[in-house]
Amino acid sequence: MAYVVTEACIKCKYTDCVDACPVYAFKEAPDMLVIDPEICINCDACEPMCPVDAIYGDFEIPADQVEFIQINERLSRTATEIEYSIDPHPEAEKYKNIKDKKHLLQEGH
Ligand code: F3S
Repeated sequence: MAYVVTEACIKCKYTDCVDACPVYAFKEAPDMLVIDPEICINCDACEPMCPVDAIYGDFEIPADQVEFIQINERLSRTATEIEYSIDPHPEAEKYKNIKDKKHLLQEGH
């Protein structure tokens, strides 16, 4: 069991979640943050911190976001460790209310 960052984070990356994590489970990919499921202790501290409600437990994830369980696993292998909150994505204001933005996610970085 682990918490999962979903589509709402893409091009937002507010990073408020990072400061809430007691075990440094967040990693930064180019377009979103992800949670390393090998590190997450399922504590729920991050979920209420996200201003765009991007974080869910894998046991409660909406049906249209289930693929983000694999995306978090995959990207956490290559993404950069992040221990403290930083400035949001430069286009966060533009994208924070856009629901359909998975096509903007570049993988393979
Ligand atoms: Fe993303 Fe929300 Fe964290 S937008 S970086 S999951 S605070």
